[in-house]
Amino acid sequence: MGAVQLLGVQKFFGTMEVIKGIDLRVDDGELVVFVGPSGCGKSTLLRMIAGLEDVDGGEVLISGVEVSGLAPAKRGVAMVFQNYALYPHMSAYDNLAYGLRRSGMARADVDSRVRETAALLQITDLLPRRPKAMSGGQRQRVAIGRAIVRKPEVFLFDEPLSNLDAALRVEMRSQIARLHQELKATMIFVTHDQVEAMTLADRIVVLNSGRVEQVGTPREVYHNPANLFVASFIGSPAMNLLPITRGEDGSILLESGEQMIWPGGKIDGPPGRALTLGLRPDRLSLVGSDQGQISGTVHLAEHLGDETILHVQTAAGRALTLKCDGDAPARLGDLVQIGLDLTGACLFDPDGRRVQ
Ligand SMILES: Nc1ncnc2c1ncn2[C@@H]1O[C@H](COP(=O)(O)OP(=O)(O)OP(=O)(O)O)[C@@H](O)[C@H]1O
Ligand SMILES: [Mg+2]
Repeated sequence: MGAVQLLGVQKFFGTMEVIKGIDLRVDDGELVVFVGPSGCGKSTLLRMIAGLEDVDGGEVLISGVEVSGLAPAKRGVAMVFQNYALYPHMSAYDNLAYGLRRSGMARADVDSRVRETAALLQITDLLPRRPKAMSGGQRQRVAIGRAIVRKPEVFLFDEPLSNLDAALRVEMRSQIARLHQELKATMIFVTHDQVEAMTLADRIVVLNSGRVEQVGTPREVYHNPANLFVASFIGSPAMNLLPITRGEDGSILLESGEQMIWPGGKIDGPPGRALTLGLRPDRLSLVGSDQGQISGTVHLAEHLGDETILHVQTAAGRALTLKCDGDAPARLGDLVQIGLDLTGACLFDPDGRRVQ
């Protein structure tokens, strides 16, 4: 029950193919997060699962049943959007009750279902109020309530927290995690927020131009990206990417002329092979004057309290990002020496494929 399966799913808008043959299985009770650049097809894919868009090729299965002939209301899915889509002229109570009444449920059953849902979301006090008399976060909780009240097997969330302020987002994020645990329902959640994706997901699906680039746990996509796209998309600040060549002995030759040993021993391939080295910002550090592999000038120092993000431009004109301690002394315009720690580094070929 509740598993969602996509088999070679395609979508065209006119002649433009926006979903290019996606295969994916979301297990029953799993929370999967879709991430990817704007326009890559996240909402379209959710809407195809919900039945709000036709599927032009392939199949969508929900709980093992091919759903192409089923109307949205018959699919056992509920969708929550970024803009809450509440009926403005109805109280929260009536917003929650509306769909149940329409399905012909008895009055007493509607009442108990609405009150149970309101208690779960801690919105009982809001039930008599209309949406205009609520805060954004309260409205969004009512909107989530409208989805829950129908007891769907699958929840589809399309950036449901984007309109909320930072503190509310954190609170709603933990509510959604709690709901997922309590309801044990399948959830697919779209977000642009890296922290939301990393903290909520059982698995993350990274989408790009209508294709799946990688599916994996948050740790997998962060520490073991399948390709350059995933490596540069996941993680904030983003991974540093440096052009290197393979030395005669399998070592790394940096643009600065410095040579380093690859942690696994040697780089594969012929000498002179051109590759891109990917290094997370916390693997770069400020070091003493003759200990660094790269030197550069600080272009921006973001002092965030417990950490400092330094943006440095190298002599070769590359932009690097360093995640340093909060008390890092560097200031705008400083010439700094940077040490590289290759633990967990990635290597990509010129086509963006991960090679090591
Ligand atoms: N009704 C439509 N008619 C034509 N093209 C559409 C339609 N809806 C979406 N598109 C196009 O399909 C592509 C995917 O859109 P979609 O809304 O799924 O992206 P998204 O990943 O959700 O982006 P965002 O992060 O900005 O919400 C985009 O190129 C978009 O312009
Ligand atoms: Mg979208």
